[in-house]
Amino acid sequence: MTDPAARRETASRAEPAPAGLRRQGDWIQAPGLLAQAGPLVRERVGGLRTLVVTDAHVAPLWLAPLERSLAGAGYAVAVHVIAPGEASKTPAVLADLYAALAAAGVTRSDPVIALGGGVVGDLAGYAAATWLRGVPVIQVPTSLLAQVDSAIGGKTGLDLPQGKNLVGAFHQPTLILSDPAVLSTLPDRERRNGMAEVLKTAAVLSEDLWEGLESDSLPEPEWLARCALLKLDLTGRDFRDGGDRMLLNYGHTAGHALETAGGYAGLLHGEAVSIGMVLAARIGESLGLTEPGTGDRIASLLRRHGLPDRIPAELRGREATIRDAMALDKKRSGDRLTFILLRRIGEGFLHPVPVDAIRDRVLEAMA
Ligand SMILES: NC(=O)c1ccc[n+]([C@@H]2O[C@H](COP(=O)([O-])OP(=O)(O)OC[C@H]3O[C@@H](n4cnc5c(N)ncnc54)[C@H](O)[C@@H]3O)[C@@H](O)[C@H]2O)c1
Ligand SMILES: [Zn+2]
Repeated sequence: MTDPAARRETASRAEPAPAGLRRQGDWIQAPGLLAQAGPLVRERVGGLRTLVVTDAHVAPLWLAPLERSLAGAGYAVAVHVIAPGEASKTPAVLADLYAALAAAGVTRSDPVIALGGGVVGDLAGYAAATWLRGVPVIQVPTSLLAQVDSAIGGKTGLDLPQGKNLVGAFHQPTLILSDPAVLSTLPDRERRNGMAEVLKTAAVLSEDLWEGLESDSLPEPEWLARCALLKLDLTGRDFRDGGDRMLLNYGHTAGHALETAGGYAGLLHGEAVSIGMVLAARIGESLGLTEPGTGDRIASLLRRHGLPDRIPAELRGREATIRDAMALDKKRSGDRLTFILLRRIGEGFLHPVPVDAIRDRVLEAMA
C-alpha cells in the first residue's frame, strides 16, 4: 500500500497544467480541466474525503474523469446523484443530501463538490453552507448558465412550495473549476437558455463583449471567460445583492413576470429574460433614456441565437397580468420599482421609477 501523502505527491507532480488555462483568483477555466481537478482541490482545500453531488444526466457523461482525478489526489470520494431539474431544489432532496454527507463522514475540512448545472450548484452550495455550519464548496459548473452565472457569486438556495429560491445563504465557492469541453453534451435548448444570460451580461456591462458576439469573432472559451469574469468582478465588489450586482437583473423584472404569467411551464427562464431585455430596451427608448435602435439591435442578436424577442402568441391578451406581476417584483420598495435600463449597449443603470409611471409604457412596449 502506498502512503496517501506519497501518492498525493506523485499525483500533483504528474499532472501538467492544461493548455489554454485561464485563472483569476479562485476561478479557473481550461478545456479538460475535470481530469485535472484533484491536485487543484488538494492544493486549495486539503481534507481527506469529499462528496461529489451531481445529477442523473451529468453523472454518466462527466463524473468519471473528475472522480478519477480526485481519487488520484488522495481523496476518499463519495458520490450523491440527484434527479435532474428544478424539482430537486427542495427541502426533501436536501435532507437526503445531508444523509449522504453524514454517511460519507464529511468534516469541516473536507470539500463538497458540485458537478452540474445551477440546480446542483444551488442545492450542493446550500448544503455546504449549512452542513456543520459551513464546509468548503467547489463549483464545477457543467451547463452554460452555470459557467457564466450561477456558479459565480456565492448565492445558494432552494425552492419552497411558496416560491422559488425562498431559502438560501451566501456561501462563496473556494474554487470554481470551469471546463468548456463539458458543454459539448448540453442539449440545444439548455444552451440557448444560458446564451440569454451571456447576452444579458454583455448588454448591461460590456459593449466590447457584445460586439465580439455580434461579429462572431471570439472563440467560445474566450467569450465564456469574459462573461464569467464580468460576473466575478461585479459580485466580488458587491457581494450581497445591492448596488451594481443588481445590474445583472437586466431583463429579469419582465422576465419573471412572463414566467409567472406562463405558469412556469411554457417559457424557459432564459427565453423569458430575452423578451424582458427587449421590453426594457424599448421602455428605455420610449422614456428617452436609451439610445434609439438598442431594442432592435438586441432583438436581432437574440433571434440569431434562437431566442424569442417578443411575447409568444399564447401569452397575448395577458399583457395586463404581466404588467401587474412586474409591479410585484422583488426589487420594488413602496410604490417605486428599480428598473434596470440601458443607456446604450454595454452600459446599464438602475432606474427607480414610480410603478404608475411605467404602467402604460410596459403595455406599449408589449404591443
Ligand atoms: N446561484 C445563482 O446565482 C443563480 C443564478 C442563476 C440561476 N440560478 C439557478 O440555476 C438553476 C438553473 O440552472 P441550469 O439552467 O444550469 O439548470 P439545471 O441545473 O437544471 O441544468 C439544466 C439541464 O441540463 C442538464 N445538464 C447540465 N450540464 C449538462 C451537460 N454538460 N451535458 C448534458 N446535460 C447537462 C441538467 O441535467 C439539466 O437537465 C435554477 O434553479 C436557478 O434558480 C442560480
Ligand atoms: Zn437569469
